[in-house]
Amino acid sequence: MALTLHPELLEALTIHAGVEIGNAVFYLSAYSWARANGWEGFSKRWKNDAFDEFAHAQNFVKFIARYNVAINAEPKIRPMPEPELGQTLLGLAALAAALEGMTEESMRDLLRVAEGVGDGAAVEWISGKLLDQQKERKKADDFAARVQDAAVEPGCLVILDRKLERGGW
Ligand SMILES: [Fe+2]
Ligand SMILES: [Fe+2]
Repeated sequence: MALTLHPELLEALTIHAGVEIGNAVFYLSAYSWARANGWEGFSKRWKNDAFDEFAHAQNFVKFIARYNVAINAEPKIRPMPEPELGQTLLGLAALAAALEGMTEESMRDLLRVAEGVGDGAAVEWISGKLLDQQKERKKADDFAARVQDAAVEPGCLVILDRKLERGGW
């Protein structure tokens, strides 16, 4: 582990922590929308996703803290797509998949910065997180496809919602 954190890498890590917080905010609003519209299973899933995203943000902050540097920067929250009133489950699931794709891109940017400044320990740590994110993006893609299939058949979204309420799909 390098003793100091390159300012460019600190900036990129901070930006990415902001991306994770933005994801949490998105999932929280999807959760509220689903809850308000009587979709208990979807709301449960998106609430869990929101907590996962807060944990991801925390991981990045903890990583920065390992370097024992004073953090002067604040997480920069990029504009995120927001679920709007009247949006559908289908739309929210598709937005979530798009968001996970953007998050993967943000991590690739971060990895490039770590490589650029030659911080091997950071490259290794970020590579592990990128692998996790690729799995998460795949999961979000599968979920969006599943919701899309269910939306075609009458009643299938209700069945999917009940499955989600039981914690599976
Ligand atoms: Fe995340
Ligand atoms: Fe995510």
